Amino acid sequence: MNKTILAAIAFVLLMAGATYLAVGGAGGMGGEGDWVNKLAVLGAVVLFIVTTFVVTKYVRQMQNDRAGGKLADENWDGIGEFKNELPFGWAVIFLGLTIWAIWYFLAGYPVNAYSQIGEYNEEVAAHDAKFEAQYANMDDATLKEMGGSVFIVQCAPCHGLQADGMDGKAANLNHRLEEKSIKHVIQNGSNNQILGMEMPMPDRNGLMNANTGALITDAEIDAVTKYVAGGLKGTEGADVFAGVCAACHGPDGKGMDMVAPSIAEFNPTLIANVLKHGKKGAIGQMPAFNNLTEVQVKALGAYVTSLSK
Ligand code: HEC
Ligand code: HEC
Repeated sequence: MNKTILAAIAFVLLMAGATYLAVGGAGGMGGEGDWVNKLAVLGAVVLFIVTTFVVTKYVRQMQNDRAGGKLADENWDGIGEFKNELPFGWAVIFLGLTIWAIWYFLAGYPVNAYSQIGEYNEEVAAHDAKFEAQYANMDDATLKEMGGSVFIVQCAPCHGLQADGMDGKAANLNHRLEEKSIKHVIQNGSNNQILGMEMPMPDRNGLMNANTGALITDAEIDAVTKYVAGGLKGTEGADVFAGVCAACHGPDGKGMDMVAPSIAEFNPTLIANVLKHGKKGAIGQMPAFNNLTEVQVKALGAYVTSLSK
């Protein structure tokens, strides 16, 4: 090991020790004295002395020095270059700071000590836990009421105060599905994890009518779309629904566990999954809401479900 590396290591130990004293060790943050300020003042004094010394040295050198030493082999149109050693002090500081920075980020101050972001996160988590405990057992009416007030803040900007989707800007939550959305899903399929698992709905090239043995036709799509949008009532389109959709969505369209969601009505699980994963469809993009607490999600589930009933 040459002396540059040894000196760099000594420098690292000095910096690490100083950092430890300043923030982590005895008398550190919140301890007896405020080492950070003392260290900063000490640093300023050292910087001032070093700067004065270096500037004086080089100004003298500029006044007195003659070029000397060994020329490098290369020269450019007669202009040569002296061979110079890497300045020792510069090399020590460069190496030392590099190693110290790695130590500082991995094991030093940031991961081990107080931070405002950490304190904020802890406070939010503590508040959420208190909130969850306080509202753990709510009756249906209170749950809906809470859902309604969360809705006004978080959802109404897109869905509207009446949850009517504001002329198609977002889904109308007063009934389950509109023609435009149903047709879009049959044509294009859907993979929104609306049920919370990976199972997608195939597009029209994967939808076979069990009654006719053929792929679903345009006329059948129109008929079944009207049937579903109309709340699965009447006879028109009912045969297509039975032949194509019922296998997954159930004979009454209320969905089947782990297979397909209800397309007849909302339920709290469906709403929770839309909030967790977001949803992309004919109308646009519903963003995922990951900042809601469990109680709030439950409350929104109860509220939105109640709208269409
Ligand atoms: C192979 C099973 C399967 C068949 C057959 C099927 N679906 Fe689906 N469908 C699903 C699944 C799974 C989803 C949920 C997809 C997702 O997570 O985005 C879904 C979602 C939907 C949605 C979207 C619900 C929403 O809120 O976005 C509509 C509308 C729909 N299906 C209508 C139909 C109709 C109408 C038919 C018959 C023409 C049909 N489906 C046939 C499996 C099926
Ligand atoms: C930035 C606008 C926006 C916000 C905010 C928003 N949504 Fe949506 N939401 C949409 C859009 C757009 C759709 C329709 C997606 C599609 O094309 O199917 C949608 C769809 C939905 C659906 C699915 C409807 C269906 O029939 O499948 C539910 C449930 C829903 N939103 C609930 C909520 C709740 C609850 C909130 C508040 C926490 C909320 N949304 C906030 C834009 C938004």
